[in-house]
Amino acid sequence: MCGIMGYIGGQQAWDIVLSGLKRLEYRGYDSAGVVTLSERKLRLARQVGHISALEKAQPEPLAGSIGIGHTRWATHGGVSVKNCHPHRDSSERVAIVHNGIIDNMEALRAQLCAEGVTFRSETDSEILAELVGRGLARGLALLEAVREAMRQIEGTAGIVAIDRDDPELLVAARIGSPVVIGLGDDECWVASDPLALRPFTDRMVILDDGEIAAIFAGSFRTVDLDQRDRDKRVEKILHQPEEAERGDYEHFMLKEIHEQPRAIDRSMRGRLDVSMGSSILGGLKSHEQQLFDVKNVVFFGCGTSLYSAQVGAYLMSRYARVPCVAEDAAELAVRNPIVERSTLYVAISQSGETADTLSALREIRQRGGLVAGITNVVGSSLARETAFGTYVHAGPEISVCSTKAFTAQVLATELLSLRFARMRDLSASEGRAWALALQELPDKLKLMLEQAGACEELARRFAGHRFTMFVGRGANVPVAAEGALKLKEIAYVPAEGMSGAAMKHGPLALIEPGMPVWALVPPDETRERMIGNLRELKARGAFIMAVADLGDKEVRELVDRVIPMPSHHAAVSPILNAVPLQLFAYYSARHLGYDIDKPRNLAKSVTVM
Ligand code: G6P
Repeated sequence: MCGIMGYIGGQQAWDIVLSGLKRLEYRGYDSAGVVTLSERKLRLARQVGHISALEKAQPEPLAGSIGIGHTRWATHGGVSVKNCHPHRDSSERVAIVHNGIIDNMEALRAQLCAEGVTFRSETDSEILAELVGRGLARGLALLEAVREAMRQIEGTAGIVAIDRDDPELLVAARIGSPVVIGLGDDECWVASDPLALRPFTDRMVILDDGEIAAIFAGSFRTVDLDQRDRDKRVEKILHQPEEAERGDYEHFMLKEIHEQPRAIDRSMRGRLDVSMGSSILGGLKSHEQQLFDVKNVVFFGCGTSLYSAQVGAYLMSRYARVPCVAEDAAELAVRNPIVERSTLYVAISQSGETADTLSALREIRQRGGLVAGITNVVGSSLARETAFGTYVHAGPEISVCSTKAFTAQVLATELLSLRFARMRDLSASEGRAWALALQELPDKLKLMLEQAGACEELARRFAGHRFTMFVGRGANVPVAAEGALKLKEIAYVPAEGMSGAAMKHGPLALIEPGMPVWALVPPDETRERMIGNLRELKARGAFIMAVADLGDKEVRELVDRVIPMPSHHAAVSPILNAVPLQLFAYYSARHLGYDIDKPRNLAKSVTVM
């Protein structure tokens, strides 16, 4: 939530900061702002709306070769210019950008007001600027002033600060919210995500919690909150710059949907052992014995990641016969969880930075639980704070609406479940059949993508319908929920996804003639029951769009449209079924003319609780 960016070096800061902010815009896009420093003056431009609005409002670059910028997802204070970052202290000596939430804001604000400070905004971040400014006024250096300010706050903060009187220094700090420094020969960058730094450098330093860095043109120094020096490792974060570009696609979401065959292929590379009918997850190697002793598994995550966790829970229980549940990380974190030594906890998060997921994993670790991670972002907090785990390698996902990360996360749970199943009672031949099915997924996904035209036609017909229902059974219940989530997120259509069995306990009352319903009817053990559900829907006049085997005559006769799926192993149907639902949501939003990659009120990385 919120993107921060900074630059110090020999080039014009304005262009670099804006280019970084554009790559961070998925983190928030209510408003944006930049401060540069030249001739001992802080030069400020801020604007409500996307970064393009800021560029329009400030067509001339702000002068200076040091600067900071911010793209906002509002938490404290409405969306207005006065609440835009960067914020300055009352003496206008320091400017800061902040990502996070200051929990003790009221107390700090009251104290500062009592001391005569008049705040210009309603934000918590301005308090931080004021605290830093006060430190500088007492003669502290910027690093020290930021350190003192960070010690006073409770909550989360990733910040970058700039001092009018010191044109050769930026200071960044991290409590909770991610901060990464990019190193060049005689320049440095700082941002809340390595993605923003990809075009500039692959040498990066990721700050840990409670670290503060003084950043110069080409070097840096890090201390902790107690002023002890910290040695930091410079990591090489490999570039794949073209992946973060939209190319010929109209939207990132469409590009990311179409990238799924490649993403799944990459995600799987070297991880399947077809001859043994098993999977090889490098990250798990050092923990094989522990995994052997695991008696229960708990997957947890938020939003789309929670749905991938639910698919994983089904697979793990069904095929590995290990009792497994999926938990909403936000609830898990706050309900005093019972943590058991014989349970493996698996945190799932595309970004690896979702605050609720991190909070749950910290709580479980605190109680001695073993936590593994599944994430897309290399070096993310989740990757750093879990005992072991696996990267899904889906490539950067820019659209707020998650697509390829969902299927890649489901794939990770498939690989994990297969490994667990083969450690227990799945036979080699059953394991081989599953492994082969996984290997064939990229080609089968390509066949699903060939249905884009049909999905577009259905979207044109039903876009903006006042309600859409999604139903499935077994492993496809969460896929139905994910289909509904996509439609809500980007097309703003009220939608519900559920088990076909749950309809008769209430939601069936919503069905009226012509109401669009998506039904997931793979030819597996759930089919018979789904057929029953289709009859219930048909009797009430629903317009049913089914993802099913084209040869399934009974389904064909019951429904209004079939999106055909290729023959497949039952365990992989969630990955195939997700695709038409993604395409339907995409084309619905496109038909309605919405901002698909940046849906209203949302942000990709929710770093607040
Ligand atoms: C936000 C995004 C969702 C995402 C969820 C969890 O709500 O809008 O698309 O599924 O966060 O994100 P994570 O990065 O933890 O998977």
